Amino acid sequence: MRTQYCGEVTKDNLDQAVTLCGWVNRRRDHGGVIFIDLRDKTGLVQVVFDPDRAEIFQLTEQIRNEYVLQVTAKVRLRPEGTINPELTTGEIEVLATELTVLNESETPPFQIDDDDVNEESRLRYRYVDLRRPIMQERIQMRVKVVQALRNYLDSNGFLDIETPMLTKATPEGARDYLVPSRTHPGEFFALPQSPQIFKQLLMMSGFDRYYQIVRCFRDEDLRADRQPEFTQLDIETAFLNEEDIIVMVEGMMRDMFKATLNVDLPNPFPRMSYAEAMHRYGSDKPDLRIPLELVDITDLMTAVEFKVFSGPANDEKGRVAVLCLPNGSELSRKEIDDYTKYVSNYGARGLAYIKCNDVAQGREGLQSPILKFLPDDVVAKIIERTQASNGDLLFFGADKTSVVNDALGALRVKLGIDRGLLEGEWKPLWVVDFPMFEYDEKESRWNALHHPFTAPNFDSAQQLLDNPGESLSKAYDMVLNGTELGGGSVRIHKQDLQKAVFEVLNISEQEAESKFGFLLKALKFGCPPHAGIAFGMDRLIMLMTGSDSIRDVMAFPKTQTAQCPLTDAPAEVSERQLKELNIRIRTKAKE
Ligand code: AMO
Ligand code: AMP
Repeated sequence: MRTQYCGEVTKDNLDQAVTLCGWVNRRRDHGGVIFIDLRDKTGLVQVVFDPDRAEIFQLTEQIRNEYVLQVTAKVRLRPEGTINPELTTGEIEVLATELTVLNESETPPFQIDDDDVNEESRLRYRYVDLRRPIMQERIQMRVKVVQALRNYLDSNGFLDIETPMLTKATPEGARDYLVPSRTHPGEFFALPQSPQIFKQLLMMSGFDRYYQIVRCFRDEDLRADRQPEFTQLDIETAFLNEEDIIVMVEGMMRDMFKATLNVDLPNPFPRMSYAEAMHRYGSDKPDLRIPLELVDITDLMTAVEFKVFSGPANDEKGRVAVLCLPNGSELSRKEIDDYTKYVSNYGARGLAYIKCNDVAQGREGLQSPILKFLPDDVVAKIIERTQASNGDLLFFGADKTSVVNDALGALRVKLGIDRGLLEGEWKPLWVVDFPMFEYDEKESRWNALHHPFTAPNFDSAQQLLDNPGESLSKAYDMVLNGTELGGGSVRIHKQDLQKAVFEVLNISEQEAESKFGFLLKALKFGCPPHAGIAFGMDRLIMLMTGSDSIRDVMAFPKTQTAQCPLTDAPAEVSERQLKELNIRIRTKAKE
């Protein structure tokens, strides 16, 4: 039906006849001459309708936005002064000789070139929203990225193997999506939170290198970078250690960034321990584009009279730290109040500050409601340690270490963005040496920081049982610009170590048997050492396309409340279907 795409008509086609198909982006009546911008996935071209050709000129009268047209036209140069450098086709226009209206369109629910449409409406009319050039670009970038990743993995001997969607609960620890079994009344499948166990079984089956671009399902609280169903690039290898796999997937990312964005990522990526990341950035996924760091002053605060600071400083689990904001003294009272409110979302009970007007003058040159609580020598040491200069502002956090890290870590990122401090475009990082477990104070129990199949960085089961809190794992996260792109680990391949991990996690033998018995059994039949990682594809494409949310890089995402306005899923089903599935919905009235 066409000779080429709209966005591909150039000066090379001068004087040729072309046939194009697409949607009407805009129709303009220039008193006598009609212009229609015709759009397809490659871009726009300007079609001119001349009144000399009366029959097709008349047809244009009825044409509205989003009508679907087929146009045959002759390519010509645009007149001087009307060249549009923003379009690939901006130097030419096409003069219509034939026109077929392939289909009409009702008035679209929103303008294609309106960037400010509410998301509910965009999702309800997703097929219209996806026509927007920016959405076309994002989805096409996604395709390119997948292709580049597949190329790399295919040429490195990885096999793309599918794993079940109807399965049993996996160990990632989010809430499951369940599917009732019709043939086994009262029993349920769980949709996989990841193919974790199956990919380990594939290593035990001898496939050696596996990958899959695969949908995962997690019923968790949604955010800009979290969807109930999302896509992982899932990888598992046998006979590779932590170092081997880190080097390999780093190479994959570098190749892919080069092939798709022509960007050279650093070689190698920097690495940082979990402990260092938390200490310096208050986060296990620090955005290294932001040049601010948390400066620890816990030791300086043990003897001060200000209880807000001395309390946490004398508590084993407390911390006092400072963020020094260059030129922050210009912040208004209102701005400081807003930042105080912001950190309160992370549990902070306040946000003390010192404005550094003239540091050479000592406390006379400083301005702060808390100065009166701090002795001269402590003030001098704070200035020295933070290397504050004139005009800077110091923000203080004092609380439990986790609260200080969360609050100042988040403030660091917010200040970085608000104050335009970002340096460099792409800052990848490996975070390594994670603790095996974290203690849940509320439930008084240990939880796996990654998942319970992650190997510790030592072999002794006894050592693990004796000191779970100090045990580090062979887990690694790839972080890019402050987003956790992927995480993985070396797996436990010996039964005794796996049992010890379950013991620390307080998972009884029975529970382990009923949940993961098939994996534990497989460990007994010749399990090779193996390791793997999974990347969040949606997050990766979000970063690569500069999008604010992963919803913008998924063709058909769910809303923040896990609904699909397009199909109206989830939806009620018939009594009959429920009966077949042996499900009875108890309505409130009957209860
Ligand atoms: P993990 O749970 O860390 O590891 O997930 C891997 C990556 O998946 C992405 N991700 C998400 N993306 C969008 N929406 C979500 N709800 C969501 N949850 C996770 C993140 C994350 O880094 N089986 C292990 C991997 C392994 O050990 O090999 C796993 O799933 O980018
Ligand atoms: P107050 O004595 O409660 O008025 O607090 C004095 C200053 O300390 C105010 O600027 C508070 O925002 C700040 N502040 C209070 N609690 C904390 C805390 N836990 N961490 C950091 N600053 C705090």
